[in-house]
Amino acid sequence: MTETVLLIGGGGREHAIARALADDCDLYACASNRNPGIRGLADGFETVDETDTAGVVAYAEAVGATLAVVGPEKALAAGVADALDDAGVYTFGPREAEARIETDKAFQRRFMRDESVPGCPDFETFDDVEAACEYVDGYDGDLAVKPAGLTGGKGVKVTGDQVTKEEAKAYLRESGYDRVVLEERLVGEEFTVQGFVANGDLRTTPAVQDHKRAYEGDEGPNTGGMGSYSDAAFHLPFMTGSDYDDAVEIMEAVVDALPDYKGVLYGQFMLTAEGPKVIEFNARFGDPEAMNTLPTLETPFLDVLVAAREGESLPALDVSAEATVCKYAVPEGYPDDPSAGTRIEIDEASAGDALVFYASVDEREDGVYTTTSRSVAVVGLAETIEAAEEIAERALDAAGEGLRVRHDIGTADLVEGRVRHVRELRGE
Ligand code: AMP
Ligand code: GLY
Repeated sequence: MTETVLLIGGGGREHAIARALADDCDLYACASNRNPGIRGLADGFETVDETDTAGVVAYAEAVGATLAVVGPEKALAAGVADALDDAGVYTFGPREAEARIETDKAFQRRFMRDESVPGCPDFETFDDVEAACEYVDGYDGDLAVKPAGLTGGKGVKVTGDQVTKEEAKAYLRESGYDRVVLEERLVGEEFTVQGFVANGDLRTTPAVQDHKRAYEGDEGPNTGGMGSYSDAAFHLPFMTGSDYDDAVEIMEAVVDALPDYKGVLYGQFMLTAEGPKVIEFNARFGDPEAMNTLPTLETPFLDVLVAAREGESLPALDVSAEATVCKYAVPEGYPDDPSAGTRIEIDEASAGDALVFYASVDEREDGVYTTTSRSVAVVGLAETIEAAEEIAERALDAAGEGLRVRHDIGTADLVEGRVRHVRELRGE
């Protein structure tokens, strides 16, 4: 039987999901923006806001969807997976209650503590700003200040890194967040592990390193992620295989404690001197990380979805032994003052061997326009990170004028710096 899959979301992550599914099923997609990459792969596309549960269900029913995949967290937070499940469309994405592992950082930390999930930093949760400020004053050491709700990765401030303690308190007082988490600042190198979860199984994919800061050399404000790389192994050059296994063990503990969880579980880790600690969990693929992971997945993603729906054990994953480098081109001024509404010319033919993924752009009658978020990504795949980086870099001309890129992502200089950093941390 040919499956009919509805994909929800219109970014680079969802273009990568569409590419992974398009040949194996009848694919339909809906999102608030018209992503030309997704539209080109799908049999049908409808403009529906990702949080409009009734609209998404109506479209799923209209196309006769037998499966659904949710890309963005805001859809999970709005209960889109619940609504689709309840309408009889099995959805690969957690229900709202389980998505709280991402959507409520206070819940997430308490969950880790209550379920004895390893790798949890010291933390306290607050619903009173002045009590939080007192805690900042009394805390011996640096802290991460985190709004409990969703902020697109842009709400966290870390003392000793981006802000002083005085600035952290001013941020708490000015921001008007009603619930915050204050936690121990973790020092080390960040990495991501994404896994498929259903029926109590977890199948993980190779580690990826994303780059949150807007500018080269990890300067500037946090963004949704400017680009990312993975190696031709499950671990990254600055990690050992056993660091990877420790991260997977932490994720296994989450799955054990959430038996109904289904969808992608994304672990964001800090590799500290004591091993991996959890920065956060997400309830969906990372963006950009999906663009590293899905192109190297040799097991059809559809097989994972069908096994999940059928209540079967998830297939073991075959992954090609290729390194990947993803570079995002973003509007000028992103993330603080992005210039939306700029018409851009994307020339896919000039991308050479690289993959091109459209992200938060909007296709109109007379061309493709930027929005306030990331525009287009290129991904190089090769035997080494260095070779993948060259392929990605050469492809950037495809993105045309008027966009900004972090050219340092995936370069030998950057990767070697990360290796040295971890050696220093470990006193090697
Ligand atoms: P999050 O929204 O939780 O992913 O946080 C955004 C970014 O803030 C992370 O990618 C880290 O760079 C940083 N961050 C979050 N929590 C901590 C922590 N406990 N220690 C150090 N940095 C952190
Ligand atoms: N790249 C980080 C995220 O998707 O949350």
